[in-house]
Amino acid sequence: MKLPVLAAAAAAALPTIAAHKPNLPRQGPASSGSAATSSTFSVPGYAPGVSVASSFSTLPTVSWSLPSVNPTAIPLSDIVPGTITTQSTLGATTTFPAGSTPTGIPNAPPMPNWQTLSPANYPALDKTPPTDSPQVQQWIQDVQNSGIAIPDFQPTQPGGCPANLELASNETLCWWTCTGCTASTDITTCPTKLTWGVTHDDGPSPYTPNLLQYYNQNDLTGTFFCIGSRVISYPAILQEEYMAGNQICAHTWSHPYMTTLTNEEIIAELGWSIKVIKDVLGVTPLCWRPPYGDVDNRVRAIATAMGLETIIWTRVSPTVTFDTGDFNIPGDTISPSQVLLNWENIMGNATIINTGFIVLEHDLFAQTVDMAVGYILPAALAFQPKLTLKPVIECLGFTLADGYLETNDNTTHPLPTSSFSNAPSATGAAGSAQASASGNASGGTTNPTGGAASVATNNALLAAGTAAAAILAALGTLL
Ligand SMILES: *[C@@H]1O[C@H](CO)[C@@H](O)[C@H](O)[C@H]1NC(C)=O
Ligand SMILES: *[C@@H]1O[C@H](CO)[C@@H](O)[C@H](O)[C@H]1NC(C)=O
Ligand SMILES: *[C@@H]1O[C@H](CO)[C@@H](O)[C@H](O)[C@H]1NC(C)=O
Ligand SMILES: *[C@@H]1O[C@H](CO)[C@@H](O)[C@H](O)[C@H]1NC(C)=O
Ligand SMILES: [Zn+2]
Repeated sequence: MKLPVLAAAAAAALPTIAAHKPNLPRQGPASSGSAATSSTFSVPGYAPGVSVASSFSTLPTVSWSLPSVNPTAIPLSDIVPGTITTQSTLGATTTFPAGSTPTGIPNAPPMPNWQTLSPANYPALDKTPPTDSPQVQQWIQDVQNSGIAIPDFQPTQPGGCPANLELASNETLCWWTCTGCTASTDITTCPTKLTWGVTHDDGPSPYTPNLLQYYNQNDLTGTFFCIGSRVISYPAILQEEYMAGNQICAHTWSHPYMTTLTNEEIIAELGWSIKVIKDVLGVTPLCWRPPYGDVDNRVRAIATAMGLETIIWTRVSPTVTFDTGDFNIPGDTISPSQVLLNWENIMGNATIINTGFIVLEHDLFAQTVDMAVGYILPAALAFQPKLTLKPVIECLGFTLADGYLETNDNTTHPLPTSSFSNAPSATGAAGSAQASASGNASGGTTNPTGGAASVATNNALLAAGTAAAAILAALGTLL
């Protein structure tokens, strides 16, 4: 069981987080037992198109082939599963004076001075925020006032689909994790074939600037799904993402399984994550991604009531989801070479579907950024047929300005509701307000994979996914 190693190493890599958890278990990363033992890959001298194999002591060897690799890529053998490599990071490479605005958003409000933000004014890191604060009570009231009906489902039990077999197959819930069920309002693809909505989740982190540097050198932009707890820890890096023309979306405050939370907890998670982004950037995001893709119609309705579009990632069938698996490298359940093979499979599927696609990648840990800038993005840029890489809001045919409450053109990109307020509540706690209301989420639901029938066949996949998810969940609680 390598979890304590991961946690200790994560603490070392993310000092701001560790500072809030001084009693993390300590174990040397050398005991992880997953160091690379051999690799035929070497840099420099890599010939594009050559297949290579990497071998890790505890993970299967797989072969892969990419159209191009960054000549300065960190060798795969140095991207070690299960440990957090402590390579150098760039830090925020540019700091922006208060009042700056991104060139891509002509009507952007002036950006605040992040140095005046105090973490003391935000909830504790990496925990679901309390629901009895005046601020959260105000958001609960806003959700009630939105007129969006919140389905009256009980929260799911921890443990995902296997722990909730009846709910997992209940089509009324439309629980994406379990059946791939999507609501008509969900965004899971880019409409235009061979267009890739590039996304990175779980940052900002000390490694994000390495990714931004590659983006900048290659004239790329993407969508960042940011965890509120990371935003208040690395506000200057969030500003750098935004100023470089990337789209910023929310990814909750503490990265929980959202279907397990009460309505009030869901509101607290979403509310704080979009408030901290507004406080750092001056704009309120209109999009979010559920951690682990864990969303059902109850969670969707609350997100809609808070002005957030739900963006997941492309899922062609129970066994073909456009998830690189990159996060499982730090989780020590996947080798870097397997991630590259996953990428090849994603590309193979991307060329045969009729739409574009959205891929899941991460920027929280060094390995996932190393994979992106050394391998995945260079391969994407060299891919034939040629791919178009864009932030999700742009692949949908909108502008970056359409991605934020304050700058959205309310005619071409209308909001489902406009009642959500970021203003701190002037009133005190409003007692035990209930956001629940009976009724259905807005928008119909569709099930591309055959609904309940797919649940049974999906169990093997779920078991694999659950193992990885359990690591991330445990990591989340330790962080
Ligand atoms: C599905 O869930 C809904 C909402 O909780 C419930 O009313 C319904 O009875 C459930 N259906 C089945 C077949 O369990
Ligand atoms: C699609 O992905 C699956 C695995 O996720 C893979 O087995 C299959 O070969 C891929 N299809 C193509 C056409 O590449
Ligand atoms: C769009 O609507 C929102 C909510 O009513 C409002 O705050 C915002 O100023 C509007 N945006 C524009 C560009 O008019
Ligand atoms: C909820 O949706 C179901 C299925 O579409 C429909 O039969 C039912 O009448 C709806 N309930 C409400 C309260 O709108
Ligand atoms: Zn995530």
